[in-house]
Amino acid sequence: MTRIWNARKYDEWYDTAVGAYVLAREQNLLMDAVRGPRVLDAGCGTGRMLRALHEKGFETVGLEPDKDMAEFARRVNPEVDIVQARLEDALSHGLTGPFDTVILNTVLPFAEDPAALMKAASSLLAPGGLLLVGELHPEALWNRWRKEHNGAFADLHFFAPCETATLAGGADLEFVRMSESVRLPAMDMLERMCLGNTIGKIRKMVASDSVPSLWQSVLRPLMAASLLCDAQSMEKFMPESILQFMEKVVPGPGAYYLSIFRAR
Ligand SMILES: C[S@@+](CC[C@H](N)C(=O)[O-])C[C@H]1O[C@@H](n2cnc3c(N)ncnc32)[C@H](O)[C@@H]1O
Repeated sequence: MTRIWNARKYDEWYDTAVGAYVLAREQNLLMDAVRGPRVLDAGCGTGRMLRALHEKGFETVGLEPDKDMAEFARRVNPEVDIVQARLEDALSHGLTGPFDTVILNTVLPFAEDPAALMKAASSLLAPGGLLLVGELHPEALWNRWRKEHNGAFADLHFFAPCETATLAGGADLEFVRMSESVRLPAMDMLERMCLGNTIGKIRKMVASDSVPSLWQSVLRPLMAASLLCDAQSMEKFMPESILQFMEKVVPGPGAYYLSIFRAR
């Protein structure tokens, strides 16, 4: 079933502390790998990557089937050509290849037919051109947490690197390399790991009548301070130094990985 997107809500997450950190990490990997001059960002969403590519001087084209996403992307990228279509239907919507790089960043799980999507991407590449596939790693702590706690995109199939490579092989693409990134736990998980118990206890004490009023007056400001530490606030205000520290200590693969394939 086709998903209907709320572009503003989707895009807002990238303005939180965690979202901005994740975006920077993903864009660094993509920018390192991209080859020009012609680049197609297929499933471009709200167009943040398009903007970065355009600013670097690539001949950038966007493609996005969702109306709200496509309109948002056009609004923030008035100088970039953005076609509203599924990648599988791109040719009949006037998109002309070949491209030196095609980007599919967290798009595969949303496609009705991921194998057809991969073949469509391959067909638009120049010989030797690159396909960059960014995906959410199913074994990463953050993504396992999403599945178990009904987090964002928990309903989707997350493609393991070997599944992505099999789809690409079926589209006559050869594997070049893979890198992974964003080694963070989900924010509500982090809250529980670091602060959850203490905050919960303080909240319960303040809410209960059994606590004498003198204590209430001490505990109330503490509770107000603790509100700053719920998962949503953490996502908004988390200092960069803590995010960097978490990257070092969280085990397992990164939540996001980029696979690079080449057209024969
Ligand atoms: C999670 S969003 C990713 C957006 C953007 N690439 C990013 O990194 O922020 C997935 C996007 O894939 C698009 N999409 C889904 N099926 C597609 C298809 N068959 N062809 C192209 N894009 C598709 C959706 O409309 C949505 O905008």
